[in-house]
Amino acid sequence: MKVLIVGSGGREHAIAMSVAKSSRVDEIYCAPGNAGIGQIAECVPIGAMEFEKLVAFAKEKAIDLTIIGMDDPLVGGVVDAFEAEGLRVFGPNKAAAILEGSKAFSKDLMKKYNIPTAAYENFDNPEDALAYLETAKMPIVLKADGLALGKGVLICNTLKEAKAGVQEIMLDKKFGSAGNQMVVEEFMTGREVSVLSYVDGKTIKIMSSAQDHKRAKDGDQGLNTGGMGTFSPSPFYTKEVDDFCEKYIFQPTVDAMAAEGRPFKGIIFFGLMLTEDGPKVLEYNARFGDPEAQVVLPRMKNDIIEVMEACIDGTLDQIDLQFEDNAAVCVVLASDGYPVSYQKGFEIKGLENFADKDGYYCFHAGSKLNDEGKIVTNGGRVLGVTAKGADLKEARANAYKATEWIDFENKYMRHDIGKAIDEA
Ligand code: AMP
Ligand code: GLY
Repeated sequence: MKVLIVGSGGREHAIAMSVAKSSRVDEIYCAPGNAGIGQIAECVPIGAMEFEKLVAFAKEKAIDLTIIGMDDPLVGGVVDAFEAEGLRVFGPNKAAAILEGSKAFSKDLMKKYNIPTAAYENFDNPEDALAYLETAKMPIVLKADGLALGKGVLICNTLKEAKAGVQEIMLDKKFGSAGNQMVVEEFMTGREVSVLSYVDGKTIKIMSSAQDHKRAKDGDQGLNTGGMGTFSPSPFYTKEVDDFCEKYIFQPTVDAMAAEGRPFKGIIFFGLMLTEDGPKVLEYNARFGDPEAQVVLPRMKNDIIEVMEACIDGTLDQIDLQFEDNAAVCVVLASDGYPVSYQKGFEIKGLENFADKDGYYCFHAGSKLNDEGKIVTNGGRVLGVTAKGADLKEARANAYKATEWIDFENKYMRHDIGKAIDEA
């Protein structure tokens, strides 16, 4: 069969790698892709938001299955555009992708269906938000309602900071129309865990857990980024935590979406915080995490095409989802200066070192082939260097060893990815 993947990051490279392992797949295309994806798929220069062109391409090439990796097209309704033409596509439709597309929606859903999350209020004008903050307990969390590249969340320690945050989100529109509404939420403390799942509208199957490191610098300092590294599984995601989440969070979320007339098919990514009062939902995403996908997918034993088709067909209950009994760590190699400003266009050297090494992966996030045929840096997050190991410590040592195989100007990484596992 022929598969089209939509997106251009490390997540889409990890998806492409899993798709390439399926015995049922003959041809893989990726729109728009990147230099690494181009080694296992044919990249086509169509942007992820160019729905008409994507649909036309899928028809022209008789694509059997399209997989949407990114949030923006999902929230914008790309799945509806494909389905309207009778094309098979993996991902939630627009009505369901709102689970990620609107934080106000997701908070109201959790409240209505008693799914544990931080206490909150939604606001659609800055005056009411400011008045509310006057009596609120600090620290407090402000969230732009819509998509903001993972940057629309402000943690404010003082009333002054919170007021400035309202100004940024709702008045200065730093995150554009994402700030037309805002969620003001109780500040929680605890360990974070990312749990990804496959969903077919009614059945949910949980993947192995992971943890992301969102801050740019060691010791969780610096600005929030898309993610600087991940490990899987999380040793803090115990059987007890899993039992709680199965009962109070996972299936209840799927049932809530169905009850709202928005059956969810695709990936639900639960961003959880393990608080003293038990696990609570920080956020929902409607797609694989990036770089969570880079540590979860290499450990998945199933044929990804079979699992995705079961999601589309509503037969996920018949799938026995299995993961390897090992661990993986991903260290992101970024361009120095990310997430603020950074240079691009530097040659990436050493990629060939990964060619013959089992259990080592170099997922491309921001790379491209230049006019001279060289692979050069082309983004803030450049590569996701991933390694497996028998356990997390071995995987971490392997991943950091592999980061040394790669060199490019302005290469930057965190040195403490997975350090928390020493405390487990
Ligand atoms: P989100 O995009 O909602 O996952 O938020 C981004 C990050 O902000 C999370 O990964 C947390 O580290 C932090 N965060 C979000 N909501 C809260 C909260 N209610 N309390 C504490 N930290 C939070
Ligand atoms: N790594 C977090 C995300 O993909 O949203």
